[in-house]
Amino acid sequence: MVEPHAEIPVEITELDVHDDVALREYWEVEQAAMRGHRSRPLLRSYHVLTMLRDPNPYFRHVLLAARADGRIVGTADLGCSVGDNLHLADLEISVHPARQRLGIGRALYDAASRRLLADGRTTVVGEAHVPVGTQPEAAAAYAFASALGLRSVHVEDHLLLDLPATPPDIPMADSWEVITWGRRCPDELRSAYCRMRTQMENDVPRGEVDYEPHVFDEERLRVGEERIARGYDQVVAAARRTADGAFGGYSVVLVPHGEPEALQDDTLVMPEHRGHRLGLAMKRATLAVLSREHPELSAIHTWTSVDNAAMQRTNLGFGYRAVERMHEMQGTIQSPAAQQEARGWSPA
Ligand SMILES: CC(C)(COP(=O)(O)OP(=O)(O)OC[C@H]1O[C@@H](n2cnc3c(N)ncnc32)[C@H](O)[C@@H]1OP(=O)(O)O)[C@@H](O)C(=O)NCCC(=O)NCCS
Repeated sequence: MVEPHAEIPVEITELDVHDDVALREYWEVEQAAMRGHRSRPLLRSYHVLTMLRDPNPYFRHVLLAARADGRIVGTADLGCSVGDNLHLADLEISVHPARQRLGIGRALYDAASRRLLADGRTTVVGEAHVPVGTQPEAAAAYAFASALGLRSVHVEDHLLLDLPATPPDIPMADSWEVITWGRRCPDELRSAYCRMRTQMENDVPRGEVDYEPHVFDEERLRVGEERIARGYDQVVAAARRTADGAFGGYSVVLVPHGEPEALQDDTLVMPEHRGHRLGLAMKRATLAVLSREHPELSAIHTWTSVDNAAMQRTNLGFGYRAVERMHEMQGTIQSPAAQQEARGWSPA
């Protein structure tokens, strides 16, 4: 379908993720758009994008491509949970730097909205990254999302640590030990690990993001571990009390295959064990594994809620520095006709 409101004719269609030529073209546009606007983004590698070819029983992606003269000029990634959060959709839109401010982003948003509404989704959320030192309104992603009627409902710092790093030398209480594993959690720890993952679902600060936490069970863990192993080396650290084996928390780092920068993902300390520097000890343990097994890494990225004082302090202690602010932009999905009416356009 040719989109009527873009300033150049664009055709928006669903991308066949098995079409290698099209998927690579999609990826190149996404990369160019992100590099054009972001400071130090952690970009998804082409290999990670190809992982969308393996269906995930818990989460579905639909990719849309906007083409002008047969070339991809804009992309949209629609992400939807399958068994939970059926009202919610993640959306990421990118437009090639040479084709911005021509209405292509808006046309992709309209096309995505139509599909999401047909799927019963009512709320959309997307990430807008703002370089440090820039007012949010002056950043393209934030201004674009605001123009679509989305508003900021949660803010995180995007933090970066150059590697190799020297972790703070602060001891952990000696009644605790830290254990680590790689791609698969040991059998005897799986149920305790799932309990912590469920706690994380509930405890991680999300501001007003309209997200319903779910129970993280062993089947979800198995599927997640198998999927992650196809694209990443995983390092997990967990804190265990020596007296009774009780778990105090966990921390996960993902190293995308063949890439120079890693992602510090979840870190959780269970509520009853906070205040003993377990977070610091677990992050130190994952860094030690990285320096042994991945000396080639040049940096590690993480995202921390601006009002998560404990995690902010921990990260600062390691030497992380803020490079961007990430705003979760959320809004109600409206039909394109309702959006056009709100923008003051008369129906065609
Ligand atoms: C954000 C992005 C997708 C916008 O794409 P686009 O095709 O240029 O957007 P549109 O032309 O449809 O713009 C729609 C409205 O958004 C707002 N907007 C878009 N870019 C803007 C900018 N740089 N500054 C201020 N407002 C902007 C305007 O209100 C614009 O309407 P107008 O041009 O009539 O004033 C594009 O800049 C991009 O790819 N950025 C990098 C990737 C990214 O950050 N994506 C957002 C994550 S979901």
